[in-house]
Amino acid sequence: MDTPMDETTQADRGADVAAPRIAPHKPLDNYYQSEENRHKYVVDLFNQSAPHYNTIEKCFGNIGLWYRGFSLRRAGLAPGMRVLDVAMGTGAVACNAVRLVGPEGRVFGIDPSVGMIREAQKVFKGPVTRGVAGHLPFRDDRFDYLTMGIALRHVADLGEAFGEYYRVLKPGGTVWILEAHVPPSGIGHWFTKMMWGKVIPGITFLATRSEPAKLLMDYYWDTIDQAASRETVTETLKAVGFEEPTYRMAHPVCEFVAQKPLR
Ligand SMILES: C[S@@+](CC[C@H](N)C(=O)[O-])C[C@H]1O[C@@H](n2cnc3c(N)ncnc32)[C@H](O)[C@@H]1O
Repeated sequence: MDTPMDETTQADRGADVAAPRIAPHKPLDNYYQSEENRHKYVVDLFNQSAPHYNTIEKCFGNIGLWYRGFSLRRAGLAPGMRVLDVAMGTGAVACNAVRLVGPEGRVFGIDPSVGMIREAQKVFKGPVTRGVAGHLPFRDDRFDYLTMGIALRHVADLGEAFGEYYRVLKPGGTVWILEAHVPPSGIGHWFTKMMWGKVIPGITFLATRSEPAKLLMDYYWDTIDQAASRETVTETLKAVGFEEPTYRMAHPVCEFVAQKPLR
């Protein structure tokens, strides 16, 4: 899959390194007219479908919620840690993190959608801020662990977002990113397209009777199909300073883990 990348480079992304400006997926102008309109389009879509987001998870038996917790623990999330959950949505990752860090730890959430934050606050009682991945309103070296679940496709620039993740993590801190994965070709691609492009938007509409919730799933398919490759994600993590970024496949998702070096 081609990497959606433009020619410019941007220095000083928190980690004081130059990194290429990399869009998380190719432009989808059948949804929004220009790149400038993309963020507003995405946030409006999440605002409108927020009351249905958990219904969509329930249609899959909440296995995705369980998997988030399993994966976080496997990647080292432990009692006592201070965590930032970026793109917290309705709290699927943040609630798992609260359980894993226990009473000695602390979990902070950030998301640009008021609708999603409102849903999250029904189950997540920690501090929540409205904001985006590329401009985190936190001091340097503040968190032991930073998480982002199923939202990488929505950032403006992978390098900018990862630079911020690097900046707010303490030395030795871990970044954990869970993202959808589509096999690039063959039967795997055909099957994933049928499920995520047709069956799941249809089930979503039947379960929610919400046009925005169905549109969210249509958009989900189009963004994951056009998303930056796993190699682009790991290379960009490395470019901002993270050590030994790895990815692990667990179809239909892929999890990326990397460490900020100890000074
Ligand atoms: C699919 S939801 C994922 C929610 C949750 N992390 C989970 O695992 O279920 C994507 C979230 O990303 C948020 N989002 C959209 N653009 C963003 C950005 N630029 N920075 C951070 N979050 C963003 C949306 O508001 C939405 O809540």
